[in-house]
Amino acid sequence: MLLASKTAIITGAARGIGKQIALAFAREGANIAFTDLELNEAAQATRDEIAALGVKVQFYASNAADFDEAHKVVEQVAADFGSVDILVNNAGITRDTLLMRMTEQQWDQVIQVNLKSAFNFTHAVTPVMMRQRSGSIISLSSVVGINGNAGQANYAASKAGIIALTKSVAKELGSRGVRANAIAPGFILTDMTKALPEETLKQFVTLIPMRRGGEPEEVAKVALFLASDLSSYVSGQVIQVNGAMA
Ligand code: NAI
Repeated sequence: MLLASKTAIITGAARGIGKQIALAFAREGANIAFTDLELNEAAQATRDEIAALGVKVQFYASNAADFDEAHKVVEQVAADFGSVDILVNNAGITRDTLLMRMTEQQWDQVIQVNLKSAFNFTHAVTPVMMRQRSGSIISLSSVVGINGNAGQANYAASKAGIIALTKSVAKELGSRGVRANAIAPGFILTDMTKALPEETLKQFVTLIPMRRGGEPEEVAKVALFLASDLSSYVSGQVIQVNGAMA
């Protein structure tokens, strides 16, 4: 088992990529602390599926964008589980529109949920991981955080910020045995992308050399690599999971 007895915190893991990361980690023996905005049906189902794998699992209702809430969650997880070995900053939203039409609220919301949340949780786990002298922090960036995208200036900026945050954290914490890496998925089939119009979905697929969207499980496999000792000398990196999409 790659993650036997490790404790992983995964934000926004009621569904989608976060859920598949939680399940992939649990299959490798990790105990799972996951967050989402509320304990809805999806979160309950995720909790049950993880529990069925025989590991410890706990759900924490929290808004990842809120600094104090994030710190309370980490404090509670450390008390409930005894350690925090892995953090996955996964919670994210889109509020897509062209820049000229973008409201201040659309900008702020996306930066708060996608970028500030990663700061909040990374900030909260840092003293714990420094004390342990080990830890792996994984943050979800995006292909558009590297290339930009029309209609997603807020989202692309938040995901570019994730990359810079990750590289900085890797440099600050490397000497303490803590690694930080980002995953930049391309077009992954989840509720986030299903919200796009059918025509846009079809267009996207023609831009992908592998001619299909990715499955959340395919992102989870890369997260598993980054969480485990398979990547013990990998830090400050951005791994793209995008079917060769430029
Ligand atoms: P999703 O929309 O299916 O799931 C996101 C989860 O985050 C939901 O359960 C939602 O309730 C939760 N969430 C939203 N705001 C939150 C908050 N403030 N606090 C706590 N939880 C919150 O999205 P998906 O596709 O699974 O995306 C996961 C991550 O991967 C996101 O950061 C996204 O930006 C990133 N990503 C997704 C891609 C895709 O094609 N689906 C591509 C590149 C990156």
